[in-house]
Amino acid sequence: MKKNWKKFWKLGSEEFNTQFFNVTKDGELTVKEGNYIYNLPQLVRKYGTSLEILFPFILEHRLSDLIEYFNAYMKIYGYRGKFFYHYPMKVNQNKEVVMPLLSEGAHLEVTSENELWIVKKLWEGEKFHSKIRVLCNGPKTEAYLKLVVELKAKGLNIIPIAEDEGELEQLIKMKGDIGIRVDLDIKADSRWDKKIDRFGIPERRILSLGKIRNLKVLHYHMGSQISTQKSLLDGVKRGFDIYKELVKTHPNLDTLDIGGGMGVPYEKKKFYTAKIMANKIVKLLKKLADKEGIRHPNLAVEWGQYVVAPSQVTIYKVIAEKPIHKGNAKSWYVIDGSFMNDLIDTWAIHQKWHVAPINNAAGGELKRVWLAGSSCDSDDKYTAGGSYILLPKLKDSTDQYVMIFDTGAYQDALASHHCLLSSPAKLIAQDGVVKIARKRETSEMVGRLFGWSNGDGK
Ligand SMILES: Cc1ncc(COP(=O)(O)O)c(C=O)c1O
Repeated sequence: MKKNWKKFWKLGSEEFNTQFFNVTKDGELTVKEGNYIYNLPQLVRKYGTSLEILFPFILEHRLSDLIEYFNAYMKIYGYRGKFFYHYPMKVNQNKEVVMPLLSEGAHLEVTSENELWIVKKLWEGEKFHSKIRVLCNGPKTEAYLKLVVELKAKGLNIIPIAEDEGELEQLIKMKGDIGIRVDLDIKADSRWDKKIDRFGIPERRILSLGKIRNLKVLHYHMGSQISTQKSLLDGVKRGFDIYKELVKTHPNLDTLDIGGGMGVPYEKKKFYTAKIMANKIVKLLKKLADKEGIRHPNLAVEWGQYVVAPSQVTIYKVIAEKPIHKGNAKSWYVIDGSFMNDLIDTWAIHQKWHVAPINNAAGGELKRVWLAGSSCDSDDKYTAGGSYILLPKLKDSTDQYVMIFDTGAYQDALASHHCLLSSPAKLIAQDGVVKIARKRETSEMVGRLFGWSNGDGK
């Protein structure tokens, strides 16, 4: 029987966020944007590897669907609060990511002075509506607070969130709305070690703080890549418990911000969906608020990697093969890039990825392999958690390219230059047009980062 290669490589599936991906009968992977088709091996032949490709239309789809789910369920259940999506900029601060999200209706969440500076730049360039809400998390340095005050005075809708009681003392004196972050006393099903949380104010303290004059938002963030529906809903329940107490003495408080954490099916295994969660969260909050007889809170979410991760892929060429004598895989495929540099979460948090070939993907023999990065570091590898990846057997006649899916979240800002390897080039594919967003780094460019500005040793 003929193999269904599309299914085999987990392409064309909405559940796995690969609905725009397909494979031709010649075994080449493609991405479809409406009537436009991007042929990935063709792009690689033109632009070389290592290569990142960002598809802003995927971002736009994900965000507009998400906003629609929440608004639709709010309507269905007669929920009278509003929904606010806040894009956490830390997930990917690149202009080509932030701009499409803003145009789809995202509000923002920032974590540092420098992220807030981007808001200032956008506003000065008249690309930012002053109604867009900006939540300011993260420890507030003097310079960060100064910028908050400056932008508030200019009429922007900036809401600083107090991370601790010291910050609260400062924020309480500020003009305009503020928020506080509570450290919920429950553990989320996520990789994040939360035995001791250094973020936020503990539940019992928050309830004994007394009146906070300008309190508008109650915020919590339980962790990233939360793996169960139950855990997300437990957070909402617990957050609401604090909210309902605070609202008794703070009539201005009207927003519950449930932070980030919505997961991505990186491994292309069964996972809960945003549609299901939007339904359950709205239904739950309505029930809880009605039971207490209080106004339905506005609901803010800061789901970052859920929106961004699937919009980018990273492609490498296999440059060498080495046998593995003891292990679940038969060979190393050495790639012309680095997990430690370009996809650092592979090393830092043992992130699992979906990997597929972009050519020779519809026939021929497959091999159990592990991937090795080009740095000298023995940790620069991807072994699918010690299991193996299936990829085509290498042929003398053709180069083999491999693609890592869902690389849009966090990896760019975390990227590094171990062994002074170059970062991948980045393309943006939108409306049938492919543009270079970032050239592949030359030796000169990398050298400059380390102070070798003229190549003359000075
Ligand atoms: C306060 C806050 N909000 C939102 C996020 C985004 O989380 P995620 O990308 O997992 O949705 C983070 C991530 O660390 C965070 O610290």
